[in-house]
Amino acid sequence: MRDALDIAVLVGSLRKDSINKKVAAQLAALAPRALSLDVLDIGHLELYNQDYDLASPPSYTAFRRRIAAADGIIFVTPEHNRSMPAAMKNALDIGSRPFGQSVWDKKPGAVISASPSLQGGFGANHHLRQSLCCLNVYCMANPEVYLSQADRLFSEAGDLSEQGRLRLSAFIDSYVRWIGQFAADQAVPRQGGDSASA
Ligand code: FNR
Repeated sequence: MRDALDIAVLVGSLRKDSINKKVAAQLAALAPRALSLDVLDIGHLELYNQDYDLASPPSYTAFRRRIAAADGIIFVTPEHNRSMPAAMKNALDIGSRPFGQSVWDKKPGAVISASPSLQGGFGANHHLRQSLCCLNVYCMANPEVYLSQADRLFSEAGDLSEQGRLRLSAFIDSYVRWIGQFAADQAVPRQGGDSASA
């Protein structure tokens, strides 16, 4: 039996000081021991081109293999023009092809969005969910997490606010219960509230 389930984390922002990257790092820190979160780089992936289906760039092959090996996927997304950023959509498209070989199929997933705006990336969150539905990712419905005014979540020193910690903990604890429903053969340890930071 493995100690922890392998969860790939995709972040839609490529910028160095990204709020969403900080959120992903905090999720990894707050995750129960039943989960091991690995934040993947998607910024190096060439723009998807269907011509590459016959002979894919090495970056595509490595990314597809990494997703195929993961027990679940968490998507952390900013909002770009009321949708998910192009980098996130690109990663989805690459993983979905060649036709019939999608690596997303039946993966237990969850979405979280963060934005300095009051809407908290609601549009991006739900555009992403729309694609995940098509890709047959088993997407956790609740809790919905749209982190609004997310630029205030972290202090200048990078510390997460107490309110932020509570919301991210609720999210990741729900996700461990969610993925447990799909992982009967993976023997998920029953320690949903046992946060690594507690
Ligand atoms: C944005 N931003 C933004 N915010 C939002 O709430 N709704 C939106 O539709 C958009 N649109 C948008 C488009 C583009 C091209 C950029 C660069 C930015 C602002 C965005 O939320 C802000 O830059 C966040 O800080 C991005 O997240 P990261 O990079 O900090 O994780």
